[in-house]
This record gives sequence, C-alpha cells and structure tokens, in this order.
Amino acid sequence: MAPSIKRMIAACTQVLPFCPWTTGYDKSEADENFFNNFSYVTIIGKGGYIDCDYFSCGITLISPDTFYDWHYHPAIEIYLNLTKGSQWGMTEGDLLPKTIGEVITHPSNIPHAMYSKELPLIAPWFWSGDVQVPAKMEKTKGQY
Ligand SMILES: [Fe+2]
Repeated sequence: MAPSIKRMIAACTQVLPFCPWTTGYDKSEADENFFNNFSYVTIIGKGGYIDCDYFSCGITLISPDTFYDWHYHPAIEIYLNLTKGSQWGMTEGDLLPKTIGEVITHPSNIPHAMYSKELPLIAPWFWSGDVQVPAKMEKTKGQY
C-alpha cells in the first residue's frame, strides 16, 4: 500500500469521531437498518465546514455488512476507496471488488452502489457539477 494511502487512512480514522455525520436521504427512501449504519460528512460544500455551492467533498462511512443501495445524483462523484474487500457497482451490474487506493468515478445520474462485508467502508468523496441536488435511492435491488 502506498505511504500516502496509509496516511490518508490514518487521518480519516483520527477525524472520524469529530465529524458532523449525517445520513442524508429522506426517511422514506431506505429502512431503519440503513440509517443506523450509513453516514457521511461534508467538509467543503453545503452544510460543511467550508461553504461552497459548486463542488463539495467529504468522507463516507458505512458499517460492515450494510448495502448502500443503488442511488444516483446529477453531481459527478469521485471516491477514493480506503477499505480492503469493498465492492462497488454501477448501472445495477455486479458489484466488483476494488483495491485500497483505487479511485472510483460515478458519472452524472448513473446508478451506483457499494458494500463491504467485513470492514467499515471508508471513502473520501468529491462532487462536482450540480451539487445542489441530493442523491436519490432507487430501491430496486434491496439488501445485498
Ligand atoms: Fe453517489
């Protein structure tokens, strides 16, 4: 693993307890299990530490064995995967394993989903484009 990725994991781990986590999403879009096990923080952007209305970035944190169901948004999204064994999918295809340090790009309004069986899924993210429109769940496949 690249030293810079090790430093990123250590930094994320250290700041996690101090972040203003939110679940986003409307309560009608997912079940209680999801809301108890999914969270993200916005560092730059609407509601973040630094306000910005044309891009945003933060960290997503998902409990082990929690399927982040298919969802989409107009913003272009880039994730940095920091979790060994995490799986990622787009356009409702199979979820595929990603390596630590792998960059995952989700084009505008393309459905995507994520999952990690054994470890918490930690992934810094970046949104560009129409960041004012929140993500929407598809509720097409249910639990992974
Ligand atoms: Fe997304």
